[in-house]
Amino acid sequence: MCQPKHRGVKSRGSGDMSVSEGRVVVTGATRGIGRATAHAILERGGKVIAIGRNADLLEELHRQAPERVRTVAADLGDVEQLSAVADAALAAFEGVDGLVNCAGMARYERVGAIQLESVDAQLRLNLIAPLLLSQIVAEHLRDRGGAIVNVSSTLSERVAPGTSAYAATKAALNAITKAMALELAPTGVRVNAVLPGVVDTDMIRVPRLRPGEAPPVGKELEARVEAQLEALRSRHPIGRLGWPEDVATVIVGLLDHPWQTGSLVTIDGGLSVA
Ligand SMILES: NC(=O)c1ccc[n+]([C@@H]2O[C@H](COP(=O)([O-])OP(=O)(O)OC[C@H]3O[C@@H](n4cnc5c(N)ncnc54)[C@H](OP(=O)(O)O)[C@@H]3O)[C@@H](O)[C@H]2O)c1
Repeated sequence: MCQPKHRGVKSRGSGDMSVSEGRVVVTGATRGIGRATAHAILERGGKVIAIGRNADLLEELHRQAPERVRTVAADLGDVEQLSAVADAALAAFEGVDGLVNCAGMARYERVGAIQLESVDAQLRLNLIAPLLLSQIVAEHLRDRGGAIVNVSSTLSERVAPGTSAYAATKAALNAITKAMALELAPTGVRVNAVLPGVVDTDMIRVPRLRPGEAPPVGKELEARVEAQLEALRSRHPIGRLGWPEDVATVIVGLLDHPWQTGSLVTIDGGLSVA
């Protein structure tokens, strides 16, 4: 009978294990979906190399499981530093088994108000950082097996007003996911993407302004954000926004499933079929 070449990853001395029980780099691990993913991996007994800019939040995560969390404080938008960041992540537990590219940013800008600075920032963080980090981690995982998960968005396939640049970065991330999956499959490295609908995190609690509109403050800001959340909620047939944990569960599944690669997996409370 034909035996599979790569099953999970090789743990030192104890046979095969799933990727989420191993050492996983999680970018954007300080908040939202990335933090929930770090928690899900820790709950499964895995180790997390957490990357983000906020040193206090990184330290808070480290305190939760000091033996199984390492942190790398870095601005992933500074693409010249990505190689050094990857080296630090690979050194933290003497190698890694997986990578979750979760750090991201979204700027809501209508046509006419799109700024070069914001397009550049979104391209660097949402596209160049996952591309280059994946390349370095894939070389490390070559022929040992492992997995990469990219956090994309339903907006990559079904756009909304004000999302031209953001949606484009996520559509490109989908293309990278599929191209890398194809190229890396023979090396035992799987690459997948998760496409969440609207998830209740800091990212969506920012008022969406009309061109030239002054940002609201105080009670007006609160009311505006709540109305915005309600409008977003009503578009999800399941009747609520996603929770970071909803997405983290799917990310762990994609890290671990030995026959899954090149997939774009939507999790969106029915948003895409509404
Ligand atoms: N929330 C949604 O509705 C939604 C829907 C679809 C897809 N997504 C995607 O899901 C991912 C996570 O989003 P989220 O909703 O969890 O957002 P979030 O709560 O705003 O968290 C963003 C994370 O990215 C990190 N980050 C931001 N800029 C960074 C930089 N320059 N360098 C390093 N880390 C940086 C932040 O850490 P620091 O602040 O510590 O740097 C934080 O941990 C993103 O890729 C986003 O596009 C979100």
